[in-house]
Amino acid sequence: MSTPEQREGVRLARAEDLPAVCEIVNFYIRTSTVNFRTSPQLPEEWEQDWAAHRERYPWYVALVGGEVAGIAYAAPWKARNAYDWTTETTVYVSDRHRGRGLGSALYERLLKTLEAQGYRSAMAVVSLPNEGSVALHEAFGFESVGRIHAAGHKLGGWHDIGFWQRRFVLDEDAPGPITPLADLSTEAP
Ligand SMILES: CC(C)(COP(=O)(O)OP(=O)(O)OC[C@H]1O[C@@H](n2cnc3c(N)ncnc32)[C@H](O)[C@@H]1OP(=O)(O)O)[C@@H](O)C(=O)NCCC(=O)NCCS
Repeated sequence: MSTPEQREGVRLARAEDLPAVCEIVNFYIRTSTVNFRTSPQLPEEWEQDWAAHRERYPWYVALVGGEVAGIAYAAPWKARNAYDWTTETTVYVSDRHRGRGLGSALYERLLKTLEAQGYRSAMAVVSLPNEGSVALHEAFGFESVGRIHAAGHKLGGWHDIGFWQRRFVLDEDAPGPITPLADLSTEAP
């Protein structure tokens, strides 16, 4: 018996979700400084990123009435191997669905999975001001760890960015390898 298709809540992203994700993020690229890109992306760029990273980095979407209404995903913080236990996390909720708990539901799943995989830190880069994003990150235990003044110029002005860090494990032990998503023994994904 086939299971009914999930229409509400959070699940792992699939290739067919990415055009809707692209549209959600392009809205913010066009209209705001929360994303420092100055031109919209094509769905293919999202598909390439997802395909390149999906085994090691979780991507979740939030569904409302069967439609993709938000995305939270993890990505490499930097390519050099000593950074392997640090990841960058990003979250976008469609303008029509903000303020209804979707950002929190997405981050809840994303951070639990990253912790289960063995990541030590999640980093968020937030262009400032962004009261909603700062509130969300701090609610999930991210701490402010620095700021770059006038880091980018967009929509006629200079904008600062802030760095927020969430640490998962506070011990000094050498870390084990990151667990690929397919090998997680819990139901986290
Ligand atoms: C930031 C964002 C992801 C938050 O998602 P959301 O679904 O709107 O947030 P939620 O409804 O889950 O709220 C989470 C918490 O953040 C706080 N919050 C959300 N929006 C806020 C706002 N505009 N001002 C102040 N606090 C806000 C709420 O107080 C809430 O905490 P609570 O549950 O204790 O009330 C969403 O607003 C968004 O996509 N914004 C535009 C894109 C963006 O800035 N992304 C982040 C890039 S770093």
